[in-house]
Amino acid sequence: MNRTVETGKTFLVDGPASVTLVSGKAEVFGYTLKEMGKVVIRDGKRMPFVVIENSTFDISLGENASAEEAEGSTIPSSWEKAHKELATLQTKPVTVMVLGAVDSGKTSFCTYLANKLLSEEKTTKIAVLDGDLGQSDIGPPCTVAYTFISKPVTDLFNLEAKNAFFVGVTSPSKAIEKVIKGLELLKEEVLGFNPDFVIVNTDGWIEGEDALNYKIKLVEKINPQIVFCIQQDEKITPLLSALKNFKTVTVDSPPTIKQRSREKRRSLRELGYIKYLKNAKVQSMPISWLKIESEEFTGLGRNLNIKREREICELLGMKPLQIAETSDKICIIIGKGRWIDPERIDRTEKTTGKKVVVTWKGEEEGLLTALYNGERKFLGIGVLREIDYRRKAMKILTPVSNNISTVAIGKVKLDKNLREITPPIENVEKTSQTV
Ligand SMILES: Nc1ncnc2c1ncn2[C@@H]1O[C@H](COP(=O)(O)OP(=O)(O)OP(=O)(O)O)[C@@H](O)[C@H]1O
Ligand SMILES: [Mg+2]
Repeated sequence: MNRTVETGKTFLVDGPASVTLVSGKAEVFGYTLKEMGKVVIRDGKRMPFVVIENSTFDISLGENASAEEAEGSTIPSSWEKAHKELATLQTKPVTVMVLGAVDSGKTSFCTYLANKLLSEEKTTKIAVLDGDLGQSDIGPPCTVAYTFISKPVTDLFNLEAKNAFFVGVTSPSKAIEKVIKGLELLKEEVLGFNPDFVIVNTDGWIEGEDALNYKIKLVEKINPQIVFCIQQDEKITPLLSALKNFKTVTVDSPPTIKQRSREKRRSLRELGYIKYLKNAKVQSMPISWLKIESEEFTGLGRNLNIKREREICELLGMKPLQIAETSDKICIIIGKGRWIDPERIDRTEKTTGKKVVVTWKGEEEGLLTALYNGERKFLGIGVLREIDYRRKAMKILTPVSNNISTVAIGKVKLDKNLREITPPIENVEKTSQTV
């Protein structure tokens, strides 16, 4: 279906849809569209086509998609000012950070800045470091990641991560230190490539003391020259005052922004899993070849000495499939549906002075994992299908087939259709923060 939109207006398209500019001149987040280039708008996303010269679009709308016109450009003038300010900075590399609430326009602003900087100077080297675990644009969900952007894009999601750091959860509140560490490591790596600009995006958790402390710590560690704060309402005010020792620049949130429901956010995340699990196959890997990083599956692949193992088995009154011991925990894995006497656990805890953590075989099924090579380069993600304790092998659904040296096991579970499995009721409370 063709649609013509006049100069000066913005054509807003809500996905799932695809739009091709047939004639005229239009921009998406600072990127001047190529004629006949197809732009895909994902379900749950809205894309503003700012019409510079009368334009005809060929649009194809999917289920529940829609398209409407708005007066003027929906790109706030404060975004243009922000870009101009950036472009004048001479000392490279320039690192900027983008903070704002959920659905405030953080990703779009990062895309706009990158596109504008690139359209001015094609040789500019721009890295985007994505610190949003729940609504990641670059790496798979549950990771922080970076990439270089060499030509303008309509959606950062179309880029592949150059490296990523797996956190394993969708919400930073459960992994503050890990997110900060991951971003610090990746920023160091990015700087090694001598970029001109590093644009650091963040998650939308900005309300409450914990969120503020986390964001301050993150800003301190990343140490950007400018912190752009997207102002949507008064929610950002405490963050602005908390960051008074940094150079902050406030930019507006576009009034035409699209808010998303929790379900839409989850299905957008699922597109992220799908993107990184394309062509996945079940691979079976001997556990002894791998280094395993996990809280629940501690010690996997490592054997306790026989004497100690016997002692613990006697205390427990059974032989688990796997026993691991840390300074304060004894982690055991037992067969599916097997019962373990609580009194025995009690006794074991008292005798050893350690907490006994019981995991049942089968609980690993569906856990999201990350695979790294020997140099700890991120190779991709996978879904744990099974840990076979007898054969000492791990079955992982993943497109990665070579050089796997480390498997990090996360806390998110995916079903066979790569849909997130909702945590049990008692955990819902803890995960109520929007991700
Ligand atoms: N100027 C604009 N006009 C219309 N829609 C816009 C505009 N800017 C952004 N949007 C759309 O609004 C939605 C939210 O924006 P965006 O994804 O950039 O926000 P965000 O803060 O990164 O959200 P999240 O917290 O989910 O990461 C997106 O679908 C985006 O394409
Ligand atoms: Mg975003």
